[in-house]
Order: sequence, then C-alpha cells, then structure tokens
Amino acid sequence: MARRAGLTRRGSLAALLAGLAACGGPARTPAGAQAEASGEPAPRPRPSAELVAALDEATIRRVLRHGPLGPPEPDPTNRVAASPAAAHLGQRLFYDPRLSLSGMHSCASCHLPTRAFADGLELPVPQGSSERHSPTLLNVAHQRWLFWDGRADSLWSQALAVIENPKELGIGRPGLARLVTRDPLYRAEYRAAFDAEPSDAPEFEDRTAVHAAKAIAAYEARLQSDDSAFDRFAAALAARDLDTAAEYPDDALRGLLLFLGRGNCRSCHVGPLFSDGEFHSIGMPPRGGGRPTDPGRLRGIELLQANPFRGTGPWSDAPDSERAREVEALVRSSEHWGQVRTPSLRNVARTAPYMSQGQKPTLRSVLEFYSTLEGAVAAGHHGETVLAPLRFSAAEMDDLEAFLRSLDGRDPPEELLWAPPKPR
Ligand code: HEC
Ligand code: HEC
Repeated sequence: MARRAGLTRRGSLAALLAGLAACGGPARTPAGAQAEASGEPAPRPRPSAELVAALDEATIRRVLRHGPLGPPEPDPTNRVAASPAAAHLGQRLFYDPRLSLSGMHSCASCHLPTRAFADGLELPVPQGSSERHSPTLLNVAHQRWLFWDGRADSLWSQALAVIENPKELGIGRPGLARLVTRDPLYRAEYRAAFDAEPSDAPEFEDRTAVHAAKAIAAYEARLQSDDSAFDRFAAALAARDLDTAAEYPDDALRGLLLFLGRGNCRSCHVGPLFSDGEFHSIGMPPRGGGRPTDPGRLRGIELLQANPFRGTGPWSDAPDSERAREVEALVRSSEHWGQVRTPSLRNVARTAPYMSQGQKPTLRSVLEFYSTLEGAVAAGHHGETVLAPLRFSAAEMDDLEAFLRSLDGRDPPEELLWAPPKPR
C-alpha cells in the first residue's frame, strides 16, 4: 500500500506521461534524443523504472484488462473439451494426412507448430482455394467465434467444416468415421476417450465424426501460449511490484501507452486476447485491389445459424446453455457486410503475413496503414468509418512494434507439437 501511495504522489510526471500518451509525443530519454539528433543508432531498450513509477492508477487498470491471459473457459457444448484422453486422440488426428482426400495434408499443413500454428503464407497453398489467410491456433480456445467471419461457434464445429470442405481436407464425416473405426489405434483411443465404440455404419457415422471433431477441439484447447514479457509486466503491476515491472523494456512500454492512449487500438484490440472478439471493417484494401468482395460477418452469421453443428443443434452437449444460445440471438444487418473478427495480437510478431487475406507482409506495414490509411476502402454502403489516420512518427512506430513483439508467449509444451508416438 505504501508503494501505491508513492505511485500517486508522482502526479506531475504522471500527468506529463498521460499527456504524451494522449498527444502521441514519444517519451524519449535525453540520451535517445541526442543519439537521434546526431544520427547514431537509437540506444538499446532499457528498463523502464521512471516510466513505471509514473503510471497512474487509471493507466494501470487499463493495462490489467489485457493480461495475464489465464486458462480458457471449457466449452459446455463439448463435454470432452477438458479431457486428456480426448485431447490425445485429437492430437493424433490433427497431424494425420489421412484426413485429406489427397492423403497428403493434415491440419498441421496449414497450422504448423513451427510457425506458431499458422503457415507464414498469404493464402494457404494446399489444395489451393481459400480466399482467406490461415490464422494462428495459439490460444484459439479463448475465441468465441471461429474463422475470420465467425461462421463457427465452437472448435468442434469448425473442425467438421474443414473436414467436410472438399477444397480443404474433404474426407467428410463418413471418411472420418471410417478412419477412426477401422484403424485399431484410433479405435482404442476413441474407446478410452468416449467409453464407447466408434462405428462407421451409416446411422452412427455422424456421431463418430462429431466425437472425433470434439477430440480435435480438446487438443486445440491445450495450445495455450502466455507468459509473454507483457504478461510478466502486467502480473508485476497487479502485485504492485514496480521493480519487476521495470524490467519491461522502455520502448515496449512507450508503445503500450500509445496503444492504450492516442492510438486507441484498444477500442477493438482489448481484453486478454487483445481482441474484443467482435467484427469490424478497418477499410483494409482487398488483395489484388478493386472493391472488397468478401461479405465477411454478414454471410458468417447466415452460415452459422443454418449449421446443424452449431451450439444449439442436436450434436451439442449443452444446447440450452447461455453460451450456445448466443447464436440464435445474433441479428444480421447490412453493417456486417465486409466485417472480419478483430485478430488477437498475442504472438503477432510470429504470424506474418497479416490481415484476413494476408495483404500486409510485416508489422511495420500494418502500422503504416493505421498511420496513413493509404488505399483504405469503405465496406458496403454503410461502411463503418471508424478510423482516422494516426500519423505516427517513425519513433512511435518503433515503440509500437516493440510493444507488439512483447506479446510473444511461450510455446505450448513440447509433447503437443507433433503427432503422439505410436505405442509399440
Ligand atoms: C488448406 C489449409 C488449411 C487446412 C488443411 C486446415 N486449415 Fe484451419 N484454417 C485455414 C484457413 C485459411 C482458415 C481461415 C478461414 C476463414 O476464416 O475463412 C483456418 C481457420 C481455422 C480455425 C479458426 C481460427 C480462428 O481464430 O478463428 C481453426 C480453429 C482451424 N482452422 C483449425 C483447423 C483444424 C483443426 C484443421 C484440421 C481438421 C485445419 N484447421 C485444417 C487453413 C487450413
Ligand atoms: C475498429 C477496430 C480496430 C482498431 C481501432 C484497430 N484495429 Fe487492428 N485490426 C482490426 C481488424 C478488424 C483487423 C483485421 C482486418 C482485416 O483482416 O481486414 C485488424 C488487424 C490488425 C493487425 C494484424 C493482425 C493479424 O494477425 O493479421 C495488427 C497488428 C493490428 N490490427 C494492430 C492494431 C494497432 C496497433 C491498432 C492501433 C493503432 C489497431 N490495430 C487498431 C480492428 C481494429
């Protein structure tokens, strides 16, 4: 508590910083300013004792809305969401190319564990058809709506969609049921997870496939990545441990203050995922130029409400749960046209290229877009025009980049990064 009082007594510096965050002037150290003036390279980031000591309570509260991340809430529509046996089966399926019609692609072909479970490509190449960029699966169980347009409301229904889609994996529910039923190892693991026999008889194949998809979802729910430099900073602030908080590099902290302040990034990238989980149009020009053609959330809601594998459907384990019922409450409106889900910014430095069509190759190019809004398009007739050009200086973009890099988390445990070994 003594510390806390100390925090507020530094009112004048705090006011200065708040002003800087609000007007975006970079809080450069005198050394930094000198180096810049003399054309020397900027000094290495330093611990931020002074900046930390000057944080006021309102700013600390804003920071603490974003972390630490914590475990995902179990999905009630999937009763095996937290089952280790189901996750083990799901992990084996995730890496199995027999899930594709060609026999050459698995989920891991586009969600590579070595690339933060994304693919590093603008658009995925295998069976080459998707019009959208492959997102990371790290922390994906924290997402309320899946896909850029939110057309799935659970990880298991998302997995079924990929398996069904002939342009992606395409073996369909019958193919999946057949694989799980006829392969002795899958059969044993299915039995362990569901205490039931898999079956590919026509009247049971949907049940078997849905179970297999719920197992994949249980695996994905374990792909947690937190403990980033930002999380350690937030945890230290929460404990009012200012010495530990001061280990956060000063450029990242200036970037964070800009993100929360003048940049107003937090109006969409808010909460522990740095995403509001909602859908927006930021006017990102489509790949290849011209007018946007992706209807985004407008079509996403339509597909979701027609999907028999949604949370309120017959395959859900909790169709009456509050979470499931949110699907039926969604109302489409023309404003949804062209909107995509705000991406999480966790691990963002590891998941280039960016945006729903992979239009932006680097973090810098993303920040330049927000800075100038060059080429911005209006989405549909009622296009949201929420953004104004932020006119960042080069130093501010450096700071924002340093902040975004501080969101890199730990990888999930080693044993989750490949197919489980076959028992001898
Ligand atoms: C051909 C490449 C490809 C394959 C194979 C693939 N995915 Fe994806 N995945 C994508 C793309 C592209 C998207 C985004 C599509 C969209 O939003 O319309 C996506 C989206 C997702 C999402 C939603 C993530 C989010 O943040 O909303 C999940 C979860 C996912 N995939 C899991 C899987 C699983 C599980 C498998 C295997 C059953 C799989 N994917 C196979 C390319 C692929
Ligand atoms: C109006 C809501 C909104 C605001 C404000 C906003 N963003 Fe975004 N951001 C989005 C959406 C939506 C996308 C995806 C757009 C697309 O794919 O077309 C996105 C994409 C991004 C990406 C790419 C992530 C990826 O994985 O592809 C980064 C980085 C990013 N924003 C950072 C920022 C920063 C930094 C700010 C503040 C300067 C900011 N955003 C302000 C909604 C917003």
